[in-house]
Amino acid sequence: MINQRLLVTFWSIIFLCLACTGKISQKTIVIGFSQCTNNDLWRQTMLNDMQRELHYHDDYQLVMRNAQDNNDLQIRQIDSFIQEKVDLLIVSPNESAPVTQAVEKAFKNHIPVIIVDRKISSQFFNAYLGADNREIGRLAGSYVANIGNTNAKILEIWGLPGSSPAQERHDGFAQGISELPGARIIGKVYGSWNKDDAAKAIPQFEKEIREADIIFGHNDIMTLAAWEYCQKLGIEKTKKFIGVDGLPGKTAGLQWVSDGILSATILYPTGGEETIQLASKILNQERINKENIMQSTVIDGRNVRVMIEQAEKILSQQSSIERQQNLLREQKKLYDSQRNISLFLLFSLITSLLLGIFLWKTLVEKRGAIQLLEKQKTEIEQQRNQIIDVSQQAEEASRGQIQFFTNISHEFRTPLTLILGAVEGLINGSSNSREAKSDAGLIRQNALRLLRLVNQLMDFRKIENGKMRVRANEHDLTAFVHNIIRVFEKYAEKRHIILQFYGRDGAIPLWFDENMLDKVLFNILSNAFKFTPQGGRITVSAEMDSFSRQAILRIEDNGKGMSAENAAQAFEKFYQADNDRSVGTGLGLALSRDLVALHHGEILLWSEINVGTRFEIRLPLGNEHFTKDEMATEKAAERAGYDEVSAIYMEENLATNIAMPEHLSEAKKHKILIIDDNDDLRQFLARKLSAHYQVFSAEDGNTGLNRAFNLLPDLILADINMPGKNGLQITQTIKSDMRTGHIPVVLLTARATMEQKIEGIQSGADAYVTKPFNLEFLGEIIKNLLNGRSVLRERFSGNFVPDERLATSGQNDLKFAQRFVKYIEENYGDQKLSVEQLSQEMGMSRVQLYRKVKKLFDESVNDYIQRVRLKKAAGILLESDLSVSEIAYTTGYSSPGYFATAFRARYHCTPGEYREKAKGDPKSK
Ligand code: FRU
Repeated sequence: MINQRLLVTFWSIIFLCLACTGKISQKTIVIGFSQCTNNDLWRQTMLNDMQRELHYHDDYQLVMRNAQDNNDLQIRQIDSFIQEKVDLLIVSPNESAPVTQAVEKAFKNHIPVIIVDRKISSQFFNAYLGADNREIGRLAGSYVANIGNTNAKILEIWGLPGSSPAQERHDGFAQGISELPGARIIGKVYGSWNKDDAAKAIPQFEKEIREADIIFGHNDIMTLAAWEYCQKLGIEKTKKFIGVDGLPGKTAGLQWVSDGILSATILYPTGGEETIQLASKILNQERINKENIMQSTVIDGRNVRVMIEQAEKILSQQSSIERQQNLLREQKKLYDSQRNISLFLLFSLITSLLLGIFLWKTLVEKRGAIQLLEKQKTEIEQQRNQIIDVSQQAEEASRGQIQFFTNISHEFRTPLTLILGAVEGLINGSSNSREAKSDAGLIRQNALRLLRLVNQLMDFRKIENGKMRVRANEHDLTAFVHNIIRVFEKYAEKRHIILQFYGRDGAIPLWFDENMLDKVLFNILSNAFKFTPQGGRITVSAEMDSFSRQAILRIEDNGKGMSAENAAQAFEKFYQADNDRSVGTGLGLALSRDLVALHHGEILLWSEINVGTRFEIRLPLGNEHFTKDEMATEKAAERAGYDEVSAIYMEENLATNIAMPEHLSEAKKHKILIIDDNDDLRQFLARKLSAHYQVFSAEDGNTGLNRAFNLLPDLILADINMPGKNGLQITQTIKSDMRTGHIPVVLLTARATMEQKIEGIQSGADAYVTKPFNLEFLGEIIKNLLNGRSVLRERFSGNFVPDERLATSGQNDLKFAQRFVKYIEENYGDQKLSVEQLSQEMGMSRVQLYRKVKKLFDESVNDYIQRVRLKKAAGILLESDLSVSEIAYTTGYSSPGYFATAFRARYHCTPGEYREKAKGDPKSK
């Protein structure tokens, strides 16, 4: 829009500037000039006079065409002027009649026509300009009358008879000489206005010339021709010569009068300047006279001097004027060029200004656009961030949901495993009634646990869908809490936990839904029991805070407590800090928080490690905070009791003590260590496995690891999620230590995704069994590991043979491996033990030996020997007091230096440091 406006302004300025220079608006006016001849001085003077006047009309262009005294040529030239549509036509006709029609045609074509000097035979023209030729003839006649004798004989030299001046000058002359009655024209010579024609014609009239007293020529040049002829005859002084025109100049009429050649000449002005003035008037549509007659006069010896001087003066004035005009023209040119430069500068200035404005506007617009873009960019970024936030939230929500379901399924897996295991036991006929009872108890307890989980899940679903409706009634909170406390009393007693209730304020009337609040209380109380050790204390109190108009319920224990971080997340579903199931809350606390929130109350938690945990439930008094719908219309029915509920919540806390003394019978060859924090599962497995193995157990990671190093069991069964070191960390530690590296580890876990399984195997575990698992299947895995690969590992001086390699090897390979390993075991102390020696011993080429060893042990023969030597050396370092040098030589090293370097490369410490480290590490003792 702005650009368009600027463009219009720009072009307007250009147009204005050019208009000022006058180059476009000024139209050139073409004036056609048809001249009967231009071959004599008079005509040339006429043209000069015209051109001098044209200096005042820069817009006029004069186009002169010379008809060469030829009528036809002149007619054609007039026609061409008509064709060219000249703006004005000046015609000096050669002869009147023949040219008339052509002139009329121009006039009828609306071309203004000026006739000069000679006339046409019609009135179809705009103006005539010339002297009065009749008067000229008359002046000449009168002059003759004055100087001549009464009987003067006159010879008349005519111009072209068809041209008007010839006839008119003759007529006037005849009239002039009539003043002398005796005077007469004795001869007529036709000179056609030019000297040559006249000079040719005159000799034919010699007789008349000799006789004549006076010779009158229609112009000066024809008269001169007569004078010259007379001079030739020597009779020129006997006659008087009279001419017409009176032109100034060295070879013209005035000079000839002055020289006495002519007695007189009659001034015939060319009218050149006047013709252009007249043309200008016509073109400017000013009023003009059709007849424009110029004055004439007689010039003879009396006034010729004055006339010459006048002419010279005029000439000099004219040339001065011309100079002035030239000067003016120069000035004008200069002015024009300066004006053009100024205009150009002005134009450039305006253009620069416009460009400046344009650039400025563009810049402003651009800045605006940039600002707009930046604004849009910020908006887009904000939107993008919002989208990212939303998608992150969605991702978190979906991750949370996946996590929730994973946790739920984990939560289901252990009880299911236990139920299945116990059922299996019952089906296979548990060996005695005590065991059968234990199996049945395990089934009941875990089924109740599943029921609790399912109930809680249903409640969550209801809350999340907004379907959980509070049906509040007015109850006595103190009595309500007291009733529940009573249910826990016998459990407290069994666990030797002091359970106290304080209800100082007596009855506390409170609106609540007892079916909800009892769940809250059972959850919190069972949680307190779970984390309170034997001999601990659980205190419950109910009071009324009339200031805040709240009923406050506190449940406090002096159990193991939790860290601030764990306490902060205790109400998250399934939050379990650092795999520490001891602070795991499952669904109970989260559900409790939601149920309290439905009562417009809040639940708060304080906890400190090894000090205890306190829950505080604050519920508003009165019923204004409930909607009508939330208040039960019917009176609350008397509760039957809490037996079922308490069973659901407490059964697992009162874990069936599966009496399972650790079997230490030597008859059972293999020792199995079970590391699992779930008492039921641990005890259940122990009970089942103890039939075949010596079973040891540990209830957390750290204890498990210590026992592993102390016991050096034949197999370890470990859960992954446990307090202390988790199962993966245990596996890594076991596998990376050469004392325990050979022990097969079976991970027993609810982590069932493929990624988790891979992670388990990567940690070095020999088997990965997911819950719920089949006991028989687990038994087979244990059997295989104990009898199969682990035995091989032992035989081959430590677990050097990769399992999968041996597993895929044939019987021959196995035999070869046994021979090879045995030979090395017996000869590693020999410094000369070499590949050559070995290949001879094994009965194969060096290359074959290399390939075989590479295939089975994934290393070269030398590397294998080196590793056995170093392993032996490490063992000796720990078990003996031999010096490093002695050990070096014992294990086949030729120099202690080389031994030290090789040892460092493998164990990342010197042999001495290795020994020191082992001494400081209790595990190695
Ligand atoms: C020039 C001329 C003049 C004369 C006039 C008449 O061509 O011959 O000498 O006066 O023409 O038309």
